Amino acid sequence: MPLQFLLKRRSVVASQLKEPGPDKAQIKELIRAAIRVPDHKALTPWRFLVFTGDARVDFGRSIADIYEQAHNGECLPRHLENERNRFARAPVVIAVISKPVESEKVPASEQLLSAGASCQNILHAARALGFGGQWITEWIAYDLQVAALLRLEKTESVAGFIYIGTPAIVPKERPRVEPEDLMSYWKS
Ligand SMILES: Cc1cc2nc3c(=O)[nH]c(=O)nc-3n(C[C@H](O)[C@H](O)[C@H](O)COP(=O)(O)O)c2cc1C
Repeated sequence: MPLQFLLKRRSVVASQLKEPGPDKAQIKELIRAAIRVPDHKALTPWRFLVFTGDARVDFGRSIADIYEQAHNGECLPRHLENERNRFARAPVVIAVISKPVESEKVPASEQLLSAGASCQNILHAARALGFGGQWITEWIAYDLQVAALLRLEKTESVAGFIYIGTPAIVPKERPRVEPEDLMSYWKS
């Protein structure tokens, strides 16, 4: 992989990810990339939930209901509309579910890191296929009712929602810290 692919990497905000999104065959390739991550002891500590088409809208409706209940019905119509449209911002959303298993050798934190690597691999694979993407969590990644809606097991959590589509913008560069400001060579 040319180094520039990594050095020029940028997310594209979900609201700027338009149709077309990846088709079913391409989505399968994204998941194949997501699976091909470092995974200590090959525990397979992740799974993937794919949202496309009307499923995004249905899910958004349920999210809006949860949001409304949490605010005792006292929320602004535009906020409810935002919730309804949350997943419809991009053609495809992939929820990367961290699924740590009991292991004497591999702490849960390592397994969560592996799920994070899956998120990043999906972003890279999407870009390699000509799409843009953004890794988002927002409140829905941490809400117990949303977890129930997603039918997560007690041990599972959302590592990220990866929004994917065709970029409507070319993202501008943003300032990055220089390597020398963050690195040092160990001297004993
Ligand atoms: C675990 C994780 C969660 C994130 N959650 C959000 C989020 O909820 N909302 C958001 O705007 N950006 C979120 N981001 C940041 C974006 O993915 C992205 O990094 C940011 O838009 C900056 O763009 P860049 O990746 O091109 O630097 C998250 C990143 C990570 C690693």
